[in-house]
Amino acid sequence: MTTNPQGGHARADCPLLTTPFHSHARAGEVIDGVDLTGRRAVVTGGASGIGTETVRALAAAGAEVTIATRSPRSAAALVRELAAAGGAGRVRVEALDLSVPASVRAFAGAWRGPLDILVANAGIMALPTRTLTPGGWEMQLATNYLGHFALASGLHAALRDAGSARIVVVSSGAHLGAPFDFEDPHFERRPYDPWVAYGQSKSADVLFAVGARRWAADGITANAVNPGYILTRLQRYLDDDAMRAFGVMDSEGNVKPLPYYKTPEQGAATSVLLAASPLLKGVTGRYFEDNQEARTIRGDEDRLAGMACVAAHALDPQAADRLWDYGTEAFRTA
Ligand SMILES: NC(=O)c1ccc[n+]([C@@H]2O[C@H](COP(=O)([O-])OP(=O)(O)OC[C@H]3O[C@@H](n4cnc5c(N)ncnc54)[C@H](OP(=O)(O)O)[C@@H]3O)[C@@H](O)[C@H]2O)c1
Repeated sequence: MTTNPQGGHARADCPLLTTPFHSHARAGEVIDGVDLTGRRAVVTGGASGIGTETVRALAAAGAEVTIATRSPRSAAALVRELAAAGGAGRVRVEALDLSVPASVRAFAGAWRGPLDILVANAGIMALPTRTLTPGGWEMQLATNYLGHFALASGLHAALRDAGSARIVVVSSGAHLGAPFDFEDPHFERRPYDPWVAYGQSKSADVLFAVGARRWAADGITANAVNPGYILTRLQRYLDDDAMRAFGVMDSEGNVKPLPYYKTPEQGAATSVLLAASPLLKGVTGRYFEDNQEARTIRGDEDRLAGMACVAAHALDPQAADRLWDYGTEAFRTA
């Protein structure tokens, strides 16, 4: 692994962190030999897709994992499977709806003891029409960013008590084209666009990891991750035309991944690496993709095919601090 001697957020003129793991390494592979016995983890959205594979890898390494999901019943089979697997840590399920402030408060309020790992993984993508929470928040921003920010804030004492806790925020390459719009985050005045709303929420996720540098003195690190392209339930809001435009549906309606797509197990690797690998100990405020730190670019227009990139707008420390204040105030009044 190479290190950035200046620390802090990634910059184009600093060496990037690298690891020996290739883009399609599996989640279990990146923490092979790591013993998480006695560590406690929360994985939001752990009942499906990338989250399930994150849970599997952390539990297989011995961690006690809590799956936070809207529908606890959907995790029952996974809990049974891991309970039957010898050597795996205990897996629990708790109800959490990230778009409902009372649910986030209840989850954080009920947590007891230290928390070593928080994987902010749950997410929704490209809701076709502007959808608001009862409190008036755009649903993707509420779920992908605001709920996770409030959850981490509510769990701050537990994370601090762990001594060297890690937060992993699952972002997306979609952040590249959509900076956070402080003037109109909920699309009250600008036209709603499903991808701009998703991308904005994912820029906010990266900014959250950058803003969390204020918790470094508590031993807490936070980093953002782009898992890559993986066919999961995340695509549930895409119609056939959109799936064809992505190249993953043929003219007869058959869905199949493109060669560069990952399996959920491969998609979970970068999250698991950041959550538990000794290679990333002490690293904070950065953005990773394909198990490597991504190169900083100005935005979507500079994106180079096949290269892991993060937009400068998502690593901007001033925007991160402004967003932290925004998120804090939003939840205080919710
Ligand atoms: N798949 C990709 O290609 C891709 C690419 C880039 C980034 N990502 C990111 O990766 C993460 C995981 O996505 P995935 O592909 O694994 O999709 P997924 O299978 O749909 O998983 C998303 C999870 O989020 C949960 N969730 C949604 N809304 C929630 C809410 N209000 N409260 C609590 N949980 C909620 C869902 O739980 P329910 O069962 O309750 O619906 C589901 O378990 C997401 O943040 C996504 O944006 C995925």
